[in-house]
Amino acid sequence: MKLTNESSLFPLRKGRVTRQAHVDLPEGTFEEEFARQGFFGRTSHLYRTHPVTAWTRIEGPLRPRSYDLNRLEPGGPFEPVCFLRNEDVALHWVAPSAMDFFYRNADGDDVYFIHAGAGRLETTFGVLDYARGDYLVLPRGTTYRFLPSAGPQAYLLIESAGEITIPDRNQLGPNAIFDPAMIDTPDLEPPAEPDREWAVHIKRRNAITRVYYPFNPNDVVGWKGDLTVWRINVKDIRPVVSPRYHLPPSAHSTFLGRNFVICTFLPRPFEEEPGAMRVPFYHANIDYDEVLFYSDGHFFSREGIGPGMVTWHPQGIHHGPHPKAIPASRLKDRTDEVAVMVDAFHPLEATPAAAAVENEAYWSSWK
Ligand SMILES: [Fe+2]
Repeated sequence: MKLTNESSLFPLRKGRVTRQAHVDLPEGTFEEEFARQGFFGRTSHLYRTHPVTAWTRIEGPLRPRSYDLNRLEPGGPFEPVCFLRNEDVALHWVAPSAMDFFYRNADGDDVYFIHAGAGRLETTFGVLDYARGDYLVLPRGTTYRFLPSAGPQAYLLIESAGEITIPDRNQLGPNAIFDPAMIDTPDLEPPAEPDREWAVHIKRRNAITRVYYPFNPNDVVGWKGDLTVWRINVKDIRPVVSPRYHLPPSAHSTFLGRNFVICTFLPRPFEEEPGAMRVPFYHANIDYDEVLFYSDGHFFSREGIGPGMVTWHPQGIHHGPHPKAIPASRLKDRTDEVAVMVDAFHPLEATPAAAAVENEAYWSSWK
């Protein structure tokens, strides 16, 4: 994925525009951002007289979609349910119970977002406790199992075919967004039940092979290096904001995968300047499919969306704030949302499991 800004220093202007994007829009207009590379590349802003989402009907398969993951029922102790996927990234809903076997993903890196629940993760590299709001990053090939604590568990699993890395901070400096010193890694402990038979369920090309050992296979007594399991909590991510300018979603990038990016939208103050937009501009994702998972708080730009729901805005059709969100945003000082976004360069496909929990009327929710 290329993350360079190829914008022209002297953009063209035709008709009624604002010279500063997202600020002081021409009276009676709605701004649309038409941009390459998910807000990183060449961009034009279009000033329209109607919200571009004010369609009356849609015929054909392309439409904004929404799914209620709360209605999915992942099996136990560890049976992730895939709901969206392409060749680079697969999104699953997971509700593990105490696993009496280990799991190893040979197909990709696993990034978990703990939406609900808590527990202990045993890995090749040691043991790590986790709680709500944690991201857990497990490199491909790690052997692990979840030991959740009592109560409901609900994790979003973002499975990445390529290696997960973090974006460059560039001029923000190395300690911005989250200080790498806030990352926690596992601690070695003696393995549980070292003398019984243990199975490792290895996923390779989406098929499971079970390998059995007469001992606990997580028997590592020491390790050194820079490839390991790690954890960061959303409360330790400090979003970058501007009081005078609505920053694009790319400012909230948390992880990079191959041909996709994971962003985190977190509680933050709204823009202060009266002419500065406070809600996301309309756009059509010309290069990315955009998936948003809503975890907590009030989702200020979306009506009818609650915790545990997902929206999917595919390439080619517009989305943007719901009509009441623009005036409503003027009545508040801040947003308290916690949401995870996955922007995928290649088109995603919904699985039959997703179709079963689709909010069918979502496409008409801008009316
Ligand atoms: Fe978007």
